[in-house]
Amino acid sequence: MAEAHIIDTPSGAPASQAGTGRGAISIRNVTKIYDPEGVNVMAVDDCSMEIAGGEVCMIVGPSGCGKTTLLNAIAGFHSVTSGAIYLDGELLCGPGKPLADQGADRVVVFQNGALFPWKTLADNVAYGPVVQGRMTKAEAREKAHQMLEEAGLHGVADKYAGEVSSGMARRAEIVRALINDPKVLLLDEPYRAMDALTKSIMHEALLEVYDRTKVTIFFITHDLEEAIFLGDRVIVMTTRPARTKKIVDVKIPRPRDYKLLSSEEFRLLVGEAKDAVHEEAIKAFEAGERELA
Ligand SMILES: Nc1ncnc2c1ncn2[C@@H]1O[C@H](COP(=O)(O)OP(=O)(O)OP(=O)(O)O)[C@@H](O)[C@H]1O
Ligand SMILES: [Mg+2]
Repeated sequence: MAEAHIIDTPSGAPASQAGTGRGAISIRNVTKIYDPEGVNVMAVDDCSMEIAGGEVCMIVGPSGCGKTTLLNAIAGFHSVTSGAIYLDGELLCGPGKPLADQGADRVVVFQNGALFPWKTLADNVAYGPVVQGRMTKAEAREKAHQMLEEAGLHGVADKYAGEVSSGMARRAEIVRALINDPKVLLLDEPYRAMDALTKSIMHEALLEVYDRTKVTIFFITHDLEEAIFLGDRVIVMTTRPARTKKIVDVKIPRPRDYKLLSSEEFRLLVGEAKDAVHEEAIKAFEAGERELA
């Protein structure tokens, strides 16, 4: 159990008003330098942001700017060089606590999927709570079946992961991530390789899950339409090293559906995010040119 440090005043990007209070993330002046004695890559520099509990926070920014680095620090996969990250006021990462515990309160959904192909969807979903000793096999199986049904995966719970479509597999991964009722869902470009139609089905499925659970979502993407469609806020990061460049507030009411995509309000918000990302992408490109020169 992490030592409790209660945070007082917020700093950096202020929290959205969207939240429920559970699963608030506070990133305070975080810097991450990889291999300071060797290649010395500064991936994140003095980055601060406040994410409200129950917020859908979308992170966008140029390739290689430091987004995954930030996600990995929240997840507890690696530490930060300075600064601190808190979850509901409890220190995850920072001074006196070099590496965050990887906990059931934060769950990561990876880009390339991670279901065991030799297990059924239900057994994949049930696997975590059983190996962690949180539930018996029978309890976990029953819950897995129920959650897969709720997520619209009717009649496929007993199919092997390799037998279902990639869209169904991705939906089952979200169900698996949620079986322990985490406070925070961390997603790193989960729908990157999908065609537009499958992606839109994924978005509706994720929003449906969100409307039911109100889990805090920290979601990295390069797709600005995806960012505006799903998010309460879109945080645009600078080119490496990552800092908060701009926050786009998406005050479009939920539940949202696909008619939104053709609305003027939606187009304006996408444009606003696009301008900010484009400005940073040009800086990244020019910096790359200089490094090569
Ligand atoms: N283990 C590591 N050692 C050294 N440098 C690293 C390491 N991991 C990442 N980097 C560098 O840190 C920078 C940020 O990487 P990161 O993966 O966080 O970027 P990103 O914003 O997620 O990029 P992308 O959009 O391409 O996924 C990059 O320059 C990357 O090469
Ligand atoms: Mg990345």
